[in-house]
Amino acid sequence: MTRWLVTGAGGMLGLDLQVTLALAGVDEDDVTALTRDDLDVTDPEAVRDAVRGHDVVVNCAAYTAVDAAESHEGQAFSVNAVGAANVADACRTSGARLVHLSTDYVFAGDADEPYAEDAALVPLSAYGRTKAAGEWAVQARCPQAWIVRTAWLYGAAGPNFVKTMAALAQRHDTLDVVDDQRGQPTWTMDVARAVLRVVDGSAPFGVWHATSQGDTTKYGLTREIFRLLGLDPDRVRPTTSDAFPLPAPRPAYSVLGHDAWRMARLPLLPRWEASLAESIEDVVAEPPTS
Ligand SMILES: NC(=O)c1ccc[n+]([C@@H]2O[C@H](COP(=O)([O-])OP(=O)(O)OC[C@H]3O[C@@H](n4cnc5c(N)ncnc54)[C@H](OP(=O)(O)O)[C@@H]3O)[C@@H](O)[C@H]2O)c1
Repeated sequence: MTRWLVTGAGGMLGLDLQVTLALAGVDEDDVTALTRDDLDVTDPEAVRDAVRGHDVVVNCAAYTAVDAAESHEGQAFSVNAVGAANVADACRTSGARLVHLSTDYVFAGDADEPYAEDAALVPLSAYGRTKAAGEWAVQARCPQAWIVRTAWLYGAAGPNFVKTMAALAQRHDTLDVVDDQRGQPTWTMDVARAVLRVVDGSAPFGVWHATSQGDTTKYGLTREIFRLLGLDPDRVRPTTSDAFPLPAPRPAYSVLGHDAWRMARLPLLPRWEASLAESIEDVVAEPPTS
């Protein structure tokens, strides 16, 4: 019997992780799911108390407002770096294994082939810097840790790109969408299942890339969203990032390699088109809330 603790349990991934644990037959008494109101990861004593008695901790808590982080880097750092360090310290002290979620934004996005798990971290944005600092803190403090990077996440809960594009499709005849940012759209349920595979398969500790197979641009993704919703994909028009200036720079090429899965002979995540097709009805059922 493995006792699980999920931090940031009210977030998009945290919620689907709870669904996945239940679907995998984990007894609800063996899962402690703590939202930000229940546990603030910036409080080291509260984190230590919460972690005690658990075998696996999945740290989904994060400051994820990428643009707001540019002007609130200290706040983002306190959650993404100090919070991660607190969780890592508590896991080391109690002997729990840690799954820490991270992001493609730790990379500059100027590569022309998928980033390996051990590629150098060169974040472009404040959010990316704080997440990179979180990774370093976890690696330095907790030997029994998996750092699971994901990217371009969407799911049934929480605002995300897929929900936003589906909502905009109702209000506009045409949509201009950037065609110069390439990545791997990834469903939260696939990441949650990947987390279970890593833990249950006793995969080697270290860095794992939990992203879909295949890649596309935001424009390509939006065309596929339209197609799956029975809308005309030609209503989506390609543009460049210059047309949508944002506070935080986005990596142009955010494609992560999957060698760790191959080396461990664990199944890779599905292709992005397959997961989008499977999930889109659920994902767009609730409109984006922010
Ligand atoms: N979303 C993406 O596209 C994406 C891409 C790559 C990687 N990731 C990573 O995946 C992980 C999960 O992201 P997500 O999309 O599920 O994000 P999310 O929906 O924003 O969830 C993060 C959760 O953490 C909570 N939180 C914030 N500060 C906290 C604190 N001090 N203590 C405890 N909880 C706190 C948030 O609560 P409030 O909502 O109340 O603030 C929220 O419930 C994160 O590590 C993120 O960096 C996400």
